[in-house]
Amino acid sequence: MRLAGKVAMVTGGGAGIGRAIVLAMAREGADIFIPDIQPANAEAVVAEVQSLGRRAAALRTDVTKEAEVEAAIAEGVRGFGQIDILVNNAGVIPALGHPFTRQVEADWDTVFNVNLKSVFFTCKHIAAHFTGRRYGKIVNISSIAGPLSSQSMPSYSVVKMGVLTFTKIVAKELAAYNVNVNAICPGLLYTEMWQKLGERMRETDPAYAGLTPRQMFERRVQEWIPMRREQTPEDIGHAAVFLASDEARNITGQALMVDGGVVM
Ligand SMILES: NC(=O)c1ccc[n+]([C@@H]2O[C@H](COP(=O)([O-])OP(=O)(O)OC[C@H]3O[C@@H](n4cnc5c(N)ncnc54)[C@H](O)[C@@H]3O)[C@@H](O)[C@H]2O)c1
Repeated sequence: MRLAGKVAMVTGGGAGIGRAIVLAMAREGADIFIPDIQPANAEAVVAEVQSLGRRAAALRTDVTKEAEVEAAIAEGVRGFGQIDILVNNAGVIPALGHPFTRQVEADWDTVFNVNLKSVFFTCKHIAAHFTGRRYGKIVNISSIAGPLSSQSMPSYSVVKMGVLTFTKIVAKELAAYNVNVNAICPGLLYTEMWQKLGERMRETDPAYAGLTPRQMFERRVQEWIPMRREQTPEDIGHAAVFLASDEARNITGQALMVDGGVVM
């Protein structure tokens, strides 16, 4: 029970990696607050957390809207009495397989707004709560696409690298207040995000013709990942629990690759 008595707010916790982070933290004793743009998914995860004996609530929130983020944080503090852990997980991926010459403005705007501007909003509006209590843990979900400078995901790579830079900026700003700020770079995970990606890649890349998204994913894992195995949402959940725990109290401003060795 490494997070007993703590309250964790996990953006986008209604699916995929976010859901696994929520369940990993709840198993370690945390109560959970889920701002997500898809309320039905988030409510289903709330029920899973409650079945583990923890308190949980969800709030329909679009993390690209500053007023909604501010209201969500206020609602989390009001409902639970405090927030100890913030996980910035909500994210989207743009059209894959497109070099920057074929990207359109929306590929940059959407990815920037959902994956990075949202992190600015949550950190900005939770900072006073954390510094006032001289306690807080922030875990930002970035991606290996940042350090790998992926040619097939230009805007996503740039924005995920931006998340790593912003992680360090917030870590420096809040370090004197006993607030730890770190990032995780997940590798290849077969979530709904990757399934959609696979469908798009099949349309644009003849090398994948005739393969199902799952078969494409497995081929990528064998070609790319030194450890020759996929990463799972549970792997990211374990890493997030560690960074949110007091075992990591002297770790701040870091990016943890959970990627089977790709970035190495
Ligand atoms: N799947 C991968 O292989 C992979 C790899 C590296 C990094 N990541 C990152 O991990 C995070 C989670 O990805 P996932 O694969 O679980 O994706 P997913 O699509 O399965 O889940 C994303 C969640 O975020 C929510 N969300 C999306 N836009 C939102 C918004 N504007 N406001 C509030 N909530 C919003 C969705 O409703 C959903 O619950 C993302 O930041 C993603 O970039 C994923």
